[in-house]
Amino acid sequence: MLVRLLYVSRAIDKDCSKAIESILDVSRAHNMHNGITGVLCYGGGVFLQAIEGGRNAVNTLYNHIVADPRHTDVVLLHFEEISERRFGGWTMGQVNLSKLNTSIVLKYSERPEFDPYSVSGKVSLALLEELMATASIIGRA
Ligand SMILES: Cc1cc2nc3c(=O)[nH]c(=O)nc-3n(C[C@H](O)[C@H](O)[C@H](O)COP(=O)(O)O)c2cc1C
Repeated sequence: MLVRLLYVSRAIDKDCSKAIESILDVSRAHNMHNGITGVLCYGGGVFLQAIEGGRNAVNTLYNHIVADPRHTDVVLLHFEEISERRFGGWTMGQVNLSKLNTSIVLKYSERPEFDPYSVSGKVSLALLEELMATASIIGRA
């Protein structure tokens, strides 16, 4: 059974470019092995991540991620059973939210900086849909 989970968290180190590289390297190897796909967005010291896959695999990974000392204030925004994946093309895609076209961000928020803590999980998912539609998600083989 497939599920999708969405959470937001705050990076401990505000300049998290090094942490992101190592998170993505480990994630891509680990996720491929465990049938996990998704997207990791970051910007303004905030992570927004969607993960999807088997229910057990997603729960195990989420518990692991919550305990990671590189971030804090982890808030679960959305969890649902799904019949198909949305991010099936990415073992873990990436998006730098601070480099996004402001009009995409403004479409879903009051101010030009996207803050997943202040909007509903549905709105954050809608932003991810928009990122898919506008080919803003970067992947690596
Ligand atoms: C924001 C964030 C997102 C992460 N996403 C993933 C992920 O998608 N897959 C993954 O395996 N690890 C992810 N990690 C890293 C895990 O917390 C953990 O460090 C990694 O799975 C290695 O675990 P291990 O050292 O027990 O093997 C993420 C960490 C952070 C801080």
